[in-house]
Amino acid sequence: MYLMRSARIWYLYFGVILMVFMCFMVNFGVWCPNENEQKLENLLARYRDQIKEKDKEVREAGDKLRTSEKKIQDLILNLEVRGKNNRVFDQSMPVIYAITPTYNRSEQKAELTRLSQTFLHLPNFHWIVIEDSALRTKLVTNFLNLCGLSYTHLNILTPKEVKLKLDDPNWLKPRGVLQRNMGLSWLRKNLNPEKQPGVVYFADDDNTYDLKIFAEMRQTQKVSVWPVGLVGSLRYESPVVKNGKVTGWFTYWKPDRPFAMDMAGFAVNLQLFFQYPEVEFSNYVKRGYQESTILSGMKITLDDLEPLADHCTKVLVWHTRTETPKLKNEDRLNRKFGHGSDPNVEV
Ligand code: UGA
Ligand code: MN
Repeated sequence: MYLMRSARIWYLYFGVILMVFMCFMVNFGVWCPNENEQKLENLLARYRDQIKEKDKEVREAGDKLRTSEKKIQDLILNLEVRGKNNRVFDQSMPVIYAITPTYNRSEQKAELTRLSQTFLHLPNFHWIVIEDSALRTKLVTNFLNLCGLSYTHLNILTPKEVKLKLDDPNWLKPRGVLQRNMGLSWLRKNLNPEKQPGVVYFADDDNTYDLKIFAEMRQTQKVSVWPVGLVGSLRYESPVVKNGKVTGWFTYWKPDRPFAMDMAGFAVNLQLFFQYPEVEFSNYVKRGYQESTILSGMKITLDDLEPLADHCTKVLVWHTRTETPKLKNEDRLNRKFGHGSDPNVEV
């Protein structure tokens, strides 16, 4: 009897212990493995979603950071270019005014880039750019705005009757005449050579210039001259210098011209344009006589000429003419796919 009762108590005791143990297992997720795996899956899925979201946020923040970095980089680069050229002119040093006619064609921006990056090396320099166009173009406006130089942007269209046509040989009509004249008008209207001395140079947009020639021409008293390379179908043309004076011209083509040299081969003291306020270039003078027209108009004689570049023995300026780029594959692309290269990319 006693034994039976104590056995029952033991069963009860074990029963209670078992129940407590099972409750414990269920409560702490050790038991019911299927339900537990499900929980874990859900938890993982939630974490995966959260990670994806965070990933997206990080990527977006990275993109924003990269855009800002690019902007900062551009600003730093611009500052470097703009900061290089001090636009506050040194009053004691003559300013060089370069007059550059330019016109729209596929290599225009390349020419202007090369030219401007030569000029950026010069102190006391002002660039007068005159477009041969009815309106100032967006390309040249934006270009000048960022070029880092002190500049003036003008425009005047060459009328049809004096304009070179696409298939004309380049010698048929003069180029840049009205544009250079407009540059001269601007000088006469806006400058005072008594206040700040200056030197004027006609810098076509397709030539190549050694910096040394600018340092030399800055001290021009009346008119300075020097050789020009790759012009007149010769390796170079040059003033002939004897005992430090110009006595004539080394050129094959029309050596009898009063000033038988290219536009790139001389610079003029600013004062002379005020002394002779009517002097300008003309579309109606004989071919090769532009330089002679302007210098004769100022009563310049050979004796007045100041030979530079080591008595005209060095070539520091080249009449490089850029080859017209062939873009025929643009048309081919257009025929094949209905469009050529992206017109939004400025070249
Ligand atoms: C040569 C001389 O080097 C030029 O100084 C001179 O103006 C020219 O001959 C001429 O006979 O008139 P070249 O290389 O044949 O030069 O001429 P370009 O370089 O084609 O033109 C001279 C300047 O005028 C350049 O700055 C050019 O951009 C500009 N131009 C040319 C225009 O403004 N409009 C045009 O239709 C063509
Ligand atoms: Mn040229």
